[in-house]
Amino acid sequence: MGRAYLARRGRSSYRAAILEPRNACESSMPNGLFLVGTARGVGKTLLGAGLVGVLRGMGIDATMMTPISTGGAVESASEFLRRLGVDDDPRLVTPLRYETMASPYVASRCEGREIDIPRILEAYRELQARREFVVVEGGGVLVPIARHYFMIDLLEEMGLPSIVIGRSGRGTLNHCLLTQRMMFVRGVHPLGFLLNGYGQYGDGFAESMNPDVLAELGAPTPVLGTIEWRPGYQNDIQAVVAALTQLPEVTALLERLTGAAASRRAR
Ligand SMILES: Nc1ncnc2c1ncn2[C@@H]1O[C@H](COP(=O)(O)OP(=O)(O)OP(=O)(O)O)[C@@H](O)[C@H]1O
Ligand SMILES: [Mg+2]
Repeated sequence: MGRAYLARRGRSSYRAAILEPRNACESSMPNGLFLVGTARGVGKTLLGAGLVGVLRGMGIDATMMTPISTGGAVESASEFLRRLGVDDDPRLVTPLRYETMASPYVASRCEGREIDIPRILEAYRELQARREFVVVEGGGVLVPIARHYFMIDLLEEMGLPSIVIGRSGRGTLNHCLLTQRMMFVRGVHPLGFLLNGYGQYGDGFAESMNPDVLAELGAPTPVLGTIEWRPGYQNDIQAVVAALTQLPEVTALLERLTGAAASRRAR
């Protein structure tokens, strides 16, 4: 657990944390959505950009950020944003970059540059000031960022609502439920699971059962939908936007979040 977290919350038990969920929407840094991943490469950048496209289609001036990039991304958030017609400064979109293909903690040690959390938060605030909504590409809950600071500490510090992006096929139930249970331990309740890459590994039966079983075992966290594996997606972000727009649970969630943002502004 992060030091900051323990200092603020004390060593609360799993049960107490579950019984005392905090509503991230009430935090001091709203107007965004944090994407938790169940593993590396599950599609956070691609779907994050897709969500920005859906929001923009709803008339919301949205953008995204990848707070820490390690090892270089196949396609970067900035590249997707450019294709969506959003021209935010790449230094705000990805404030911390490391070449080493490893966790932020390991990459920062290898390259001798400490992770600068205040810089991430400043970049977020600047994007938030310029735009109406910021999709934040996080990562796995226990991805180490520093010796005593994990991805879930960053989520907690940013105080954003969150969803969990997982793979669609075998291993999904375990990865999604582990992630969700860890979030429960910290009193952060994800607003949904989004499964990505249906058909990539030909997991057939298990894959077809996963959404229903996850909805059952992961209740009360809903399954927002499944995105299929389509090799053309990386070159056609509008197709990803169209696929996400087809998922009523996704659009309803985004409407709820941005509606809440609008009413907060009106107050
Ligand atoms: N549904 C999909 N269909 C086709 N390709 C996909 C799909 N989802 C993701 N990809 C591709 O898989 C690769 C990994 O996806 P992406 O970079 O979005 O994952 P990530 O979770 O952001 O990875 P990282 O953990 O490295 O940040 C990319 O090349 C992306 O275009
Ligand atoms: Mg990524």
